Amino acid sequence: MPNTDVAKRIEELRDQIDYHDYRYYVLDDPQIGDLEYDELFRELLALEKEHPELADANSPTMRVGAKPADGFEQYEHAVRMYSLDNAMELDEWNAFCDRVVKGLGNKEPEFWVDPKMDGLAVECVYENGRLTVAATRGDGHTGEVVTHNMRTVRNLPIQLRGDSVPSLLEVRGEVIMRLDDFNELNREKREQGEKEFANPRNAAAGSVRQLDPKVADARPLRFMAYGIGRAEWSGGPLMQPRTQADIMRTLKELRFEIPEQATLCSGRSEVADYFEKMQEERESLPLEIDGVVAKVNDLEMQRALGFTSRAPRWALALKFPAHRAKTRLHDIRTQVGRTGVLTPVAVLEPVHLAGVEVSRATLHNKAYIEEKQLHIGDTVLIQRAGDVIPQVVSVIEHAENSTPYEFPEHCPVCGHDTVEDGEAVRCGNAHCPAKTVQQLIHFVSKAGLDMEGVGKKWVQRLAEDGHLNDPADLFTLPKTTLLQYGGMGPKSAQKFLDAVEHARVNAPLWRAIAGLGIRHVGEQTARTLAANYGSLEALTKASRDELESLPDIGGKVAQSIHDFFRAEPTLRLLQKLRDAGFDPQAEIMQQQEADEADLPLKDKTFIFTGGLSGMSRTEAQEKVESLGGRTVKSISKKVDYVVAGDNAGSKLDKANKLGLDVIDFDTFLDMVGEEAKQEGE
Ligand code: IVH
Repeated sequence: MPNTDVAKRIEELRDQIDYHDYRYYVLDDPQIGDLEYDELFRELLALEKEHPELADANSPTMRVGAKPADGFEQYEHAVRMYSLDNAMELDEWNAFCDRVVKGLGNKEPEFWVDPKMDGLAVECVYENGRLTVAATRGDGHTGEVVTHNMRTVRNLPIQLRGDSVPSLLEVRGEVIMRLDDFNELNREKREQGEKEFANPRNAAAGSVRQLDPKVADARPLRFMAYGIGRAEWSGGPLMQPRTQADIMRTLKELRFEIPEQATLCSGRSEVADYFEKMQEERESLPLEIDGVVAKVNDLEMQRALGFTSRAPRWALALKFPAHRAKTRLHDIRTQVGRTGVLTPVAVLEPVHLAGVEVSRATLHNKAYIEEKQLHIGDTVLIQRAGDVIPQVVSVIEHAENSTPYEFPEHCPVCGHDTVEDGEAVRCGNAHCPAKTVQQLIHFVSKAGLDMEGVGKKWVQRLAEDGHLNDPADLFTLPKTTLLQYGGMGPKSAQKFLDAVEHARVNAPLWRAIAGLGIRHVGEQTARTLAANYGSLEALTKASRDELESLPDIGGKVAQSIHDFFRAEPTLRLLQKLRDAGFDPQAEIMQQQEADEADLPLKDKTFIFTGGLSGMSRTEAQEKVESLGGRTVKSISKKVDYVVAGDNAGSKLDKANKLGLDVIDFDTFLDMVGEEAKQEGE
C-alpha cells in the first residue's frame, strides 16, 4: 500500500474504533460484535507497528501509556472549579430560589437538573480536539494531573470528532464506578484476600489517583460530564452556548456521556418534583447518587448571580438523606493501631445498603459503644451516606438475655493491660508487636517514605517473624532473608530492596519525619519541620517554645513533637537509622520564608457543627490549623466557613441566618486536600 493510503486507512480505523467504543461504552448499544471489533483493532495495531512514523498518542491503541516520570504534577485550572452549596430540606431549596429570584430582579428562572454523582471531579482539557490534560479538582484552583489514567477511561473520548470541533474545550465531570462494576471488583478483591473498597466513590477516586495507568485501566471507570470550564468555538453548527442545556447538548454531540436523567425544569416546583422522583429511583439506578444538582439554565443569569467564595449562587445540591438499614451486630472486634489505640469495628450480618454490601461499620471508640449501649447480637440501625464509612446509628432491639459489650481490658494482640487516655483506650505495652507492625507499615506507606514495591503484607510478615523490629531494620535487611519466603521470587525481592534503597538515597526529609508517626504530625507539619530544622538530628534539640513559634504548630502539637524527639527509644532509633545510612537532609528556610510558606487556609476562620463521619473534631481542627486557618467555637460574622456534619443543629440555623458560607464535610475534605477516609488502596 502506498504510504498515503496507509495513513488514510489508519485514520479510518482510528475513527471507526472510536465510534464503536462510543456505541459500546456511552450508548450501551454496540453496532458490531467483539470479533469484528478485535479485527479492526488488530489491523490498526499491525499498521501502526509497520509504520511507526504514523504513530499518534491519541490513537485508540495508545490508551494505556507510561507512568508519569516525576509523580503527579500540579495543574492550575484556568477557571476555578467551584464546589456546591447543599440543601438538606425543601425549605432550604425555596430559600435558595428566593435569593436567586431576588438576585435576578424578580425573575423566576428555569433550572437544569442532573443527579449529584458520587465520585471524583475531574477536568479534561481538549485542544483542537485532542485530550491534552486531565486533572483532578484538588482545592478548586490547583489539582493533580491524571491524564495517564483518564486516557484509560473508555467512555471518555481522547480525540473529538465531528463537524465542529472546538479549538479549546474544558469538560468537567465526575469519574465514577457503577454499582455492579464496584461489587464485581470487590468480589475479586475478596477472593484474592485483599482489602475491599468501602464504596464506589473511594474505588473510583483511589483508581484515578494512582501513578501506574495499568491500575486505572483494570478498573471499570466512567466519566460522566456535567459542565465546562473554558470553551472556544470558531463558529459552525455548535455556536456559543446560551444555556446549560445547550452545553449539555453539545457535550452529548461530542460523544461525552452525560447522566441520562439530566433534564430541564421550568421552575422551582418542578425541581422539587424531580428531587422526589430521583429519590424514589435512587435504588434502581446503576450508579450511586447522593442528591440532585439544580443549576440556573440561562448562562447570562448565571453570570449575573456570580459566586460566593466557595460556590456558585446559581446552583445548589439538594441532598438525599443517608441510606439506612436494619441488621444484626454479630461481634465487635478491636484493631490495634500504630499509636497503640484500640479501634472497635462492628461485624455485621451482611446487608445491602444502596447497592453496596455492608458487613463492617465503624464504632469510633469506647465512649461511642457505651453511648449506643450496644450488646453483641443486637438488631441495629446502620447508615451509609455517600463517601462515608458505614456507621451504627442506634440499637433497634437488644438481643435476648444480653449484656452490654465490655471493652477489652487487655490488648487483643499482646495481652498487656490497656490504659484509658481521654476518649482513647491504648495498649499499655510500649513494645506491643501490633504497634511495631503498624508503625512499620506507616513508615513505608504513602503517608511516610512512600516505598512503592515494599508491600504491606510483606512488612507484616517480616515483622511478625522478627526480621523487622523497627524502621531502621529495613535498610539492613539482607536479600537472603527475603528469598527464604515462598512467594517472594528474586524479582520481587530485588524490587523490595530497590524501593528501600531509593528511599534511603532520595527520600525528602519531610517524608522521614512524617514516616516516624509522631502524634499530630501529618504531611503539612512534617514539611514545616523539615524546612525549619533541616535534619532529624536538629529536631532532637528543638525546644517546645521554638516549635510552637512555627507557623502551623500549636501547643499540643509542639509538646508532642518535643516529647517524641526527647524520648530514649527515638534517640536510639535515629542513631540506628544513621548507622544504616539513612539520614535525609533538607535546606533550612529562613523563618520569614517559612512564615510565608504556601498555607492555603491562611487567615480563614472555621467552625464545625454536627458529626464529622470518619474524623474527630480535634483532627479536623488540627487539619485546619496545619493549613494556616483558625477554628472557633461560636458563630459570628467573622466565620468564613461553617462545616456542617450530620445532624448539624442550632449553629447551622444561625449560620444560615447570618448568610455565612456553609459547606458539607465532603467539601471540607476536598478543601484540606484529604480524601474521604479511604479503604483499599
Ligand atoms: S456542578 C459550579 N453537577 O459535586 C458547579 N457537580 O459538591 C460545580 N458533582 O465538585 C459542580 N455531580 O464533583 C455538578 N451533576 C453535577 C454533579 C456535581 C457531582 C460533584 C462535583 C463537585 C461537587 C460539589
